[in-house]
Amino acid sequence: MKGIILAGGRATRLRPLTKITSKQLLPVYNKPMIYYPIDTLIKAGITDILIIIAPDYAGQFLNLLGSGVEFGARFTYEIQEEPKGLADAFRIGKNFIGNDDVTMILGDNIFDEDFSKKVSSFKGGATVYAKQVTDPERFGVVEFDQNMTALSIEEKPKIPKSNYAVVGLYTYDNRVVKYAENLQPSARGEIEITDLNNIYLKNGELTVNIFKGLWEDAGTFDSLLRVQNIMAQKHQESLKELQK
Ligand code: TTP
Repeated sequence: MKGIILAGGRATRLRPLTKITSKQLLPVYNKPMIYYPIDTLIKAGITDILIIIAPDYAGQFLNLLGSGVEFGARFTYEIQEEPKGLADAFRIGKNFIGNDDVTMILGDNIFDEDFSKKVSSFKGGATVYAKQVTDPERFGVVEFDQNMTALSIEEKPKIPKSNYAVVGLYTYDNRVVKYAENLQPSARGEIEITDLNNIYLKNGELTVNIFKGLWEDAGTFDSLLRVQNIMAQKHQESLKELQK
Protein backbone atom coordinates (compact mmCIF):
# COMPACT_ATOMS: atom_id res chain seq x y z
CA MET A 1 0.00 0.00 0.00
CA LYS A 2 1.39 3.36 -1.06
CA GLY A 3 0.41 6.66 0.57
CA ILE A 4 -0.30 10.10 -0.86
CA ILE A 5 -0.58 13.35 1.09
CA LEU A 6 -2.32 16.02 -0.95
CA ALA A 7 -0.83 19.26 0.32
CA GLY A 8 -1.20 21.76 -2.51
CA GLY A 9 -4.18 24.02 -3.03
CA ARG A 10 -4.64 27.79 -2.62
CA ALA A 11 -5.80 28.02 1.00
CA THR A 12 -7.73 31.21 0.23
CA ARG A 13 -9.87 30.82 3.34
CA LEU A 14 -6.82 31.18 5.59
CA ARG A 15 -5.46 34.39 4.09
CA PRO A 16 -3.44 36.34 5.19
CA LEU A 17 -1.94 33.43 7.19
CA THR A 18 -1.20 31.69 3.89
CA LYS A 19 0.13 34.70 2.00
CA ILE A 20 3.77 33.78 2.63
CA THR A 21 3.56 30.07 3.35
CA SER A 22 1.45 27.02 2.74
CA LYS A 23 -1.56 26.01 4.88
CA GLN A 24 -0.06 22.60 5.64
CA LEU A 25 3.04 24.23 7.16
CA LEU A 26 1.07 26.35 9.65
CA PRO A 27 1.31 25.30 13.30
CA VAL A 28 -1.27 23.05 14.86
CA TYR A 29 -0.30 23.51 18.52
CA ASN A 30 3.28 22.16 18.67
CA LYS A 31 3.76 20.76 15.13
CA PRO A 32 3.38 21.87 11.54
CA MET A 33 -0.02 20.75 10.25
CA ILE A 34 1.42 18.22 7.77
CA TYR A 35 2.98 16.21 10.62
CA TYR A 36 -0.51 15.00 11.53
CA PRO A 37 -1.37 13.35 8.16
CA ILE A 38 2.19 11.97 8.04
CA ASP A 39 1.68 10.41 11.49
CA THR A 40 -1.74 9.06 10.47
CA LEU A 41 -0.28 7.27 7.43
CA ILE A 42 2.73 5.94 9.33
CA LYS A 43 0.51 4.72 12.16
CA ALA A 44 -1.59 2.97 9.50
CA GLY A 45 1.56 1.11 8.39
CA ILE A 46 2.16 3.18 5.24
CA THR A 47 5.70 4.48 4.92
CA ASP A 48 6.18 4.92 1.16
CA ILE A 49 4.58 8.35 0.78
CA LEU A 50 4.16 10.80 -2.08
CA ILE A 51 3.70 14.41 -0.94
CA ILE A 52 1.97 16.57 -3.54
CA ILE A 53 2.66 20.28 -3.07
CA ALA A 54 1.99 23.58 -4.82
CA PRO A 55 4.94 25.23 -6.61
CA ASP A 56 5.15 28.36 -4.44
CA TYR A 57 6.50 26.94 -1.19
CA ALA A 58 7.90 23.62 -2.37
CA GLY A 59 11.34 24.40 -0.92
CA GLN A 60 9.89 24.88 2.55
CA PHE A 61 8.39 21.38 2.48
CA LEU A 62 11.72 19.87 1.45
CA ASN A 63 13.56 21.79 4.19
CA LEU A 64 11.10 20.66 6.81
CA LEU A 65 10.53 17.04 5.83
CA GLY A 66 13.54 15.93 3.78
CA SER A 67 13.79 12.32 2.68
CA GLY A 68 11.48 11.06 5.43
CA VAL A 69 14.26 9.14 7.19
CA GLU A 70 13.64 11.05 10.45
CA PHE A 71 10.07 9.78 10.36
CA GLY A 72 11.06 6.20 9.49
CA ALA A 73 9.46 6.72 6.08
CA ARG A 74 10.39 7.42 2.45
CA PHE A 75 9.06 10.66 0.99
CA THR A 76 8.69 11.40 -2.71
CA TYR A 77 7.56 14.84 -3.90
CA GLU A 78 5.53 16.02 -6.88
CA ILE A 79 4.41 19.52 -7.78
CA GLN A 80 0.79 20.19 -8.67
CA GLU A 81 1.02 23.25 -10.91
CA GLU A 82 -2.65 24.19 -10.53
CA PRO A 83 -5.20 23.01 -7.96
CA LYS A 84 -7.28 20.95 -10.36
CA GLY A 85 -9.10 18.93 -7.73
CA LEU A 86 -8.54 16.12 -5.24
CA ALA A 87 -8.73 13.31 -7.81
CA ASP A 88 -5.84 14.93 -9.72
CA ALA A 89 -3.62 13.28 -7.08
CA PHE A 90 -4.03 9.94 -8.87
CA ARG A 91 -2.95 11.43 -12.20
CA ILE A 92 0.07 13.15 -10.68
CA GLY A 93 0.81 10.02 -8.65
CA LYS A 94 0.46 7.53 -11.50
CA ASN A 95 4.14 6.54 -11.70
CA PHE A 96 4.56 6.57 -7.94
CA ILE A 97 1.55 4.30 -7.43
CA GLY A 98 2.78 1.82 -10.06
CA ASN A 99 0.84 -1.42 -9.61
CA ASP A 100 0.00 -0.88 -5.94
CA ASP A 101 -3.08 0.10 -3.96
CA VAL A 102 -3.07 3.57 -2.50
CA THR A 103 -4.36 5.50 0.50
CA MET A 104 -4.69 9.24 0.09
CA ILE A 105 -5.01 11.70 2.96
CA LEU A 106 -5.65 15.43 2.66
CA GLY A 107 -2.80 17.55 4.00
CA ASP A 108 -5.11 19.68 6.15
CA ASN A 109 -7.14 16.81 7.62
CA ILE A 110 -6.33 15.90 11.19
CA PHE A 111 -7.25 12.56 12.70
CA ASP A 112 -6.58 10.88 15.99
CA GLU A 113 -7.22 7.37 14.78
CA ASP A 114 -5.43 4.11 14.07
CA PHE A 115 -6.37 3.00 10.55
CA SER A 116 -3.86 0.11 10.47
CA LYS A 117 -6.44 -2.71 10.73
CA LYS A 118 -8.63 -1.25 7.99
CA VAL A 119 -5.63 -0.61 5.73
CA SER A 120 -4.00 -4.02 6.24
CA SER A 121 -7.30 -5.84 5.62
CA PHE A 122 -8.06 -3.87 2.43
CA LYS A 123 -8.97 -6.35 -0.29
CA GLY A 124 -9.81 -4.14 -3.27
CA GLY A 125 -12.46 -1.70 -4.42
CA ALA A 126 -12.51 1.52 -2.42
CA THR A 127 -12.89 2.29 1.27
CA VAL A 128 -14.02 5.66 2.61
CA TYR A 129 -15.18 6.90 6.02
CA ALA A 130 -18.26 8.98 6.79
CA LYS A 131 -18.70 11.06 9.93
CA GLN A 132 -21.75 12.91 11.21
CA VAL A 133 -21.15 16.65 11.12
CA THR A 134 -23.17 19.82 11.63
CA ASP A 135 -22.05 21.41 8.32
CA PRO A 136 -22.31 18.60 5.71
CA GLU A 137 -22.76 21.05 2.83
CA ARG A 138 -18.98 21.73 3.00
CA PHE A 139 -18.13 18.11 2.10
CA GLY A 140 -19.02 15.05 0.04
CA VAL A 141 -22.26 13.81 1.61
CA VAL A 142 -23.37 10.17 1.72
CA GLU A 143 -27.01 9.22 1.32
CA PHE A 144 -27.87 5.96 3.12
CA ASP A 145 -30.94 3.73 3.02
CA GLN A 146 -32.54 2.43 6.25
CA ASN A 147 -29.95 -0.39 6.43
CA MET A 148 -27.12 2.17 6.24
CA THR A 149 -26.20 1.01 2.74
CA ALA A 150 -24.73 3.91 0.79
CA LEU A 151 -26.95 4.99 -2.12
CA SER A 152 -25.15 8.07 -3.43
CA ILE A 153 -22.46 10.63 -2.65
CA GLU A 154 -22.95 14.28 -3.55
CA GLU A 155 -20.20 16.88 -3.53
CA LYS A 156 -21.03 19.98 -1.47
CA PRO A 157 -24.81 19.69 -1.93
CA LYS A 158 -26.95 22.75 -1.18
CA ILE A 159 -29.53 20.46 0.42
CA PRO A 160 -27.62 17.52 1.94
CA LYS A 161 -29.41 14.16 1.99
CA SER A 162 -27.78 13.29 5.34
CA ASN A 163 -25.31 14.80 7.78
CA TYR A 164 -22.65 12.17 6.99
CA ALA A 165 -19.55 13.79 5.45
CA VAL A 166 -16.84 11.79 3.68
CA VAL A 167 -13.61 12.45 5.61
CA GLY A 168 -10.27 13.10 3.93
CA LEU A 169 -8.73 9.61 3.97
CA TYR A 170 -9.51 7.23 1.14
CA THR A 171 -8.14 3.81 0.13
CA TYR A 172 -8.35 2.59 -3.47
CA ASP A 173 -7.23 -0.36 -5.47
CA ASN A 174 -4.98 0.23 -8.47
CA ARG A 175 -7.87 0.89 -10.86
CA VAL A 176 -8.15 4.38 -9.35
CA VAL A 177 -5.35 5.50 -11.67
CA LYS A 178 -7.35 4.52 -14.74
CA TYR A 179 -10.61 5.93 -13.37
CA ALA A 180 -8.95 9.25 -12.50
CA GLU A 181 -7.50 9.53 -15.99
CA ASN A 182 -10.99 9.32 -17.51
CA LEU A 183 -12.72 11.83 -15.20
CA GLN A 184 -14.15 15.04 -16.62
CA PRO A 185 -13.99 18.27 -14.58
CA SER A 186 -17.17 19.10 -12.66
CA ALA A 187 -19.26 22.26 -13.04
CA ARG A 188 -16.88 24.00 -10.59
CA GLY A 189 -13.95 23.01 -12.80
CA GLU A 190 -12.41 20.37 -10.49
CA ILE A 191 -11.61 16.70 -10.94
CA GLU A 192 -13.73 15.42 -8.10
CA ILE A 193 -12.90 12.63 -5.69
CA THR A 194 -16.66 12.24 -5.21
CA ASP A 195 -16.90 11.20 -8.88
CA LEU A 196 -14.26 8.52 -8.25
CA ASN A 197 -16.13 7.29 -5.18
CA ASN A 198 -19.36 7.14 -7.16
CA ILE A 199 -17.70 4.95 -9.81
CA TYR A 200 -16.82 2.41 -7.11
CA LEU A 201 -20.27 2.83 -5.54
CA LYS A 202 -22.03 2.09 -8.85
CA ASN A 203 -19.83 -1.01 -9.28
CA GLY A 204 -20.88 -2.18 -5.80
CA GLU A 205 -17.24 -1.90 -4.70
CA LEU A 206 -17.34 1.02 -2.26
CA THR A 207 -17.11 0.35 1.46
CA VAL A 208 -18.35 3.25 3.58
CA ASN A 209 -17.27 2.90 7.21
CA ILE A 210 -19.04 5.02 9.79
CA PHE A 211 -16.34 7.04 11.53
CA LYS A 212 -16.72 8.19 15.11
CA GLY A 213 -13.17 9.24 15.91
CA LEU A 214 -11.55 12.66 15.94
CA TRP A 215 -11.48 14.32 12.53
CA GLU A 216 -11.05 17.99 11.71
CA ASP A 217 -10.57 19.71 8.40
CA ALA A 218 -8.26 22.52 9.49
CA GLY A 219 -8.94 24.74 6.48
CA THR A 220 -10.83 27.60 8.14
CA PHE A 221 -9.93 29.96 10.98
CA ASP A 222 -12.50 28.39 13.29
CA SER A 223 -11.61 24.76 12.55
CA LEU A 224 -7.89 25.55 12.80
CA LEU A 225 -8.40 27.14 16.21
CA ARG A 226 -10.60 24.23 17.33
CA VAL A 227 -8.07 21.58 16.35
CA GLN A 228 -5.22 23.53 17.97
CA ASN A 229 -7.14 23.56 21.25
CA ILE A 230 -7.94 19.85 20.98
CA MET A 231 -4.28 18.97 20.32
CA ALA A 232 -3.07 21.25 23.14
CA GLN A 233 -5.44 19.49 25.55
CA LYS A 234 -4.36 16.03 24.35
CA HIS A 235 -0.72 17.04 24.81
CA GLN A 236 -1.36 18.20 28.39
CA GLU A 237 -3.25 14.97 29.14
CA SER A 238 -0.42 12.79 27.83
CA LEU A 239 2.11 14.76 29.92
CA LYS A 240 -0.04 14.18 33.03
CA GLU A 241 -0.19 10.44 32.21
CA LEU A 242 3.61 10.33 31.98
CA GLN A 243 3.96 12.05 35.35
CA LYS A 244 1.71 9.51 37.12
P1 TTP B 1 -9.41 22.60 0.10
O1 TTP B 1 -9.41 23.02 1.54
O2 TTP B 1 -10.69 22.20 -0.51
O3 TTP B 1 -8.80 23.76 -0.81
P2 TTP B 1 -7.64 24.77 -0.48
O4 TTP B 1 -6.64 24.14 0.45
O5 TTP B 1 -7.11 25.33 -1.76
O6 TTP B 1 -8.35 25.92 0.40
P3 TTP B 1 -9.39 27.09 0.05
O7 TTP B 1 -10.69 26.41 -0.25
O8 TTP B 1 -9.44 27.85 1.39
O9 TTP B 1 -8.85 27.96 -1.04
O10 TTP B 1 -8.37 21.41 -0.12
C1 TTP B 1 -8.31 20.30 0.73
C2 TTP B 1 -6.90 19.76 0.77
O11 TTP B 1 -6.51 19.30 -0.52
C3 TTP B 1 -5.83 20.78 1.17
O12 TTP B 1 -4.82 20.07 1.90
C4 TTP B 1 -5.30 21.27 -0.14
C5 TTP B 1 -5.41 20.04 -1.02
N1 TTP B 1 -5.64 20.31 -2.44
C6 TTP B 1 -4.63 20.09 -3.36
O13 TTP B 1 -3.51 19.76 -2.97
N2 TTP B 1 -4.89 20.24 -4.68
C7 TTP B 1 -6.11 20.58 -5.15
O14 TTP B 1 -6.28 20.66 -6.40
C8 TTP B 1 -7.15 20.85 -4.19
C9 TTP B 1 -8.52 21.24 -4.65
C10 TTP B 1 -6.88 20.68 -2.86
